[in-house]
Amino acid sequence: MSEINRRGFFGKIIAAISGLIGLGLGIPLLGYAVLPTLRKREEPWSEVGPLDLIELNRPKELEVVRSSSSGWMKSNTVRSFWAYKKPDGEVVAFSPICTHLGCGYRWSDADQQFLCPCHNSVFDLEGKVLAGPAPRPLDTLPTKIEGDRLFVLYQEFKAGLPKKEAI
Ligand code: FES
Repeated sequence: MSEINRRGFFGKIIAAISGLIGLGLGIPLLGYAVLPTLRKREEPWSEVGPLDLIELNRPKELEVVRSSSSGWMKSNTVRSFWAYKKPDGEVVAFSPICTHLGCGYRWSDADQQFLCPCHNSVFDLEGKVLAGPAPRPLDTLPTKIEGDRLFVLYQEFKAGLPKKEAI
């Protein structure tokens, strides 16, 4: 091998090694910089407030602030839900979205039922369908109590299906 060919050969080897080192450093750096922008993350539990906000057997519409981050952006959105306390102290929380086609419903003290104004679905205190086209009971949301504070795991579910399916 002549001197010039040997130099060319070693030059190519060095360039290839440099390229591999560059890739080895560049890919993780790129992932660190780019991946967060592709991910949308929401805080799982939202603090609702003191437990005494919740009334015995009388659903109340409450709000939580959901924090989420999408890439480098952080945002807060307000979401509502319905909740009441059972005589044994268990807190029941429902998504505020009717399981038929997604309208907002409300609790009627006079009727002791949840009423959806869009197509007249009616649900009892436990969320069971009593009348109307709703294909399943109201969607429950997990709750937890820490000290005297209530937390809810806010989620949304697809409307119009016989089974609860998270969006
Ligand atoms: S959306 Fe509630 S009954 Fe249709």
